[in-house]
Amino acid sequence: MSMRKYSGKEPIERIWDTIGYLHEQGVSEPEIGIVLGTGLNDYADRIKDPIVLPYNSIPNMESGWVSEHRGELVFGEYLGKRVIVMAGRFHYYESRNMDKAAYPTRVMAALGIKRLILTNAAGCVNTDFSMGHLMLLSDHINLSGDNPLIGRNIDELGPRFPDMTYTYSKELREKLKKQAAAEGIELYEGVYAMFSGPSFETPAEIRFARAIGADAVGMSTVPEAIVANHAGVEIIGISFLSNMAAGVLDQPISGDEVAEASLAIKDDFTRVVDLAIQL
Ligand code: HPA
Repeated sequence: MSMRKYSGKEPIERIWDTIGYLHEQGVSEPEIGIVLGTGLNDYADRIKDPIVLPYNSIPNMESGWVSEHRGELVFGEYLGKRVIVMAGRFHYYESRNMDKAAYPTRVMAALGIKRLILTNAAGCVNTDFSMGHLMLLSDHINLSGDNPLIGRNIDELGPRFPDMTYTYSKELREKLKKQAAAEGIELYEGVYAMFSGPSFETPAEIRFARAIGADAVGMSTVPEAIVANHAGVEIIGISFLSNMAAGVLDQPISGDEVAEASLAIKDDFTRVVDLAIQL
């Protein structure tokens, strides 16, 4: 009897299986992927006549781990583009599994998206910034201690040692900032540091993050950015600064406040993502 190296399928085969199912459901050739952060899921409702697929119906993506109330992949035409939207994401803190956190992005990359718009709610570390604003990611710092590319490289998607110098497209950032400014929307630009969560950071950790150059902190986005960059997808990262990070103000941070804070920014957020699609 021959020994199998893996009990299951090769990673790339799993991705093809997922894609086969998505094709059957009518998802075809998306150009742009969007991942919606905490409190920002309503954006998916802008797509008219969408194909809506709950994650738990999608092979290799099923799981009860998405902590937000929505866990849906939404596909459709929007602003003249074929877009695929994740309403709800898999956070690293839900399973300590980077593969899980990054898997849908790998699927979107393999489906052929050219651009990925990653959004999140984040704590504001830079005291020159004020909360309630949006920040474009110029770069990130991975403080999770983990990396979704650990393990055998999927050569079909990208190289073993991908460069990360240009992860967040400078050209797209410049254009987006200009266009948003023309509509009176100020976009900060800065460095996002990922902590694993799910506990919020301590004030000492926030001082550390500031000292090493972080402007915002959060618990997501980095896994998706790493695999999208690996696959050669251009990335726009948008943080909604939902609160001042721990210790900046003399008050505790609550998850409910973070989720509710997004209501106030909804119009600007919608407009900026609309612009980002059309760049
Ligand atoms: N820290 C980490 N993640 C977050 C925060 C924060 O302060 N706010 C929203 N997401």
